[in-house]
Amino acid sequence: MSAIHIALLGYGTVGKGVYQTVQSHQKKLQAIFGKEVKISAILVKNLDKHHSPDDDVILTDDFDKIISLEKLDIVIDAIVGKEPCFSYLQRAIKRGCHVITANKEMFAHYGSQLKRLAHEHGVTLSFEATVAGGIPVIQTLKQLLNVNNIKKIQGILNGTSNFILTKMREENVPFASALKLAQEKGYAEADPTNDVEGYDAFYKAVILSELTFGEAPNWGESIREGIRGITPEQIEIFSSLGFRFKHVASIERTADGVQCAVKPVLVNEQHPFYHVEGVQNAVSIDGDIVGNISLQGPGAGMFPTASAILEDLVHINRKSVSPIITEQKPDGDETSAVSFWAI
Ligand code: HSE
Repeated sequence: MSAIHIALLGYGTVGKGVYQTVQSHQKKLQAIFGKEVKISAILVKNLDKHHSPDDDVILTDDFDKIISLEKLDIVIDAIVGKEPCFSYLQRAIKRGCHVITANKEMFAHYGSQLKRLAHEHGVTLSFEATVAGGIPVIQTLKQLLNVNNIKKIQGILNGTSNFILTKMREENVPFASALKLAQEKGYAEADPTNDVEGYDAFYKAVILSELTFGEAPNWGESIREGIRGITPEQIEIFSSLGFRFKHVASIERTADGVQCAVKPVLVNEQHPFYHVEGVQNAVSIDGDIVGNISLQGPGAGMFPTASAILEDLVHINRKSVSPIITEQKPDGDETSAVSFWAI
């Protein structure tokens, strides 16, 4: 049986979730693609820390080996950081591969460039997993944008921060213990600064802004505040007054361009984000025709993220932007001040 050949970049929590899900849902994928869907190669940073999940899966720390595989149709990116990820994906696109990325930091910085490159090369570039974990927010926005003008998006876009705030309130534990738990569960990034200081949520807001408004917010003028300065005592006091802290990202088109703010806010029980707890994310979208749409779901973790990546995989087939290509082409601890906002 012929196969769709996939290279997986990264074999951490997300990479393993993708590999396992491709195996466990092989029948469903084969029915969609009409052929086997095979992860042929996995790129890791440190070969000593990993072993290949199967004898016929190449495990390598050398991207050159991946990009020169004889058969390669799709590259799934589950690594973190801007570089070398951006360079890898540029090379994959130039080779004619479809690309699926979960890397929000890289995509917030270079998404526009990659989109242009993918367009030039007639391949699909998908990024559902970059924002809000398992919630299909990118597809939903694309669907809404077919007819709606979207005015504003608000969201709890970082599962780790929401998990930490929930644990601190429910179990009255300090920030550091709640963060440790989030790391053990695989929600937080290896360096959790991006999670707890609001960078991760800001990157996701940038991606949503580019998709929705066709432009990124001005990075220098955007507000970005983290949750590190929130204490269990503050949480307890506001809790007794009927408020919960939520770390909310907000993007809105104004006459002066797209305004973006990521900051802790206090919400009361009437607010839709009040009951969004643990690693859950939520997105609230205001469209001029549809009104308000709210989505809620798991914002991080192995299988929710794998779900988003596999949805992208299936869309590649459905879109049939170009036939799946198999022949090789030559390639060329910063602590933020915390202010409280009620919304
Ligand atoms: N560290 C991220 C979060 C993972 O906690 O939301 C999903 O993007």
